[in-house]
Amino acid sequence: GVDTLLRIPPSELKTHNKRDDAWTAINGKVYNITHYLPFHPGGEKELMRVAGRDGTKLFMLTHAWVNADYMLDTCMVGFLTGERS
Ligand code: HEM
Repeated sequence: GVDTLLRIPPSELKTHNKRDDAWTAINGKVYNITHYLPFHPGGEKELMRVAGRDGTKLFMLTHAWVNADYMLDTCMVGFLTGERS
């Protein structure tokens, strides 16, 4: 639920960059994409390019029409913050 969402700085996001522990940020929201990886129509390799970092630009470049907010709602772990917040 919303009460369990985290505030996640880039340095923490960066640690979740593995195939079995992959997070990404899109439009300020951080998602655990680990379990979505095998289902991505564009393939795991492409999706892993945004693991551990802010994927907003790459996501928008490839398919701005895809509603990630809706698709990944249950995978949301928190909000991307600045390094010191
Ligand atoms: C296709 C979701 C990230 C590359 C798709 C499609 C969805 C999707 C739903 C099908 C779209 C359609 O047919 O209109 C997502 C989600 C992402 C994500 C939820 C983030 C969590 C990325 C990233 C890349 C990428 C970061 C590239 C680095 C592609 C490509 C296709 C695709 C190349 C086209 C596959 C094809 O039609 O052959 N993605 N995507 N995606 N995605 Fe992603």
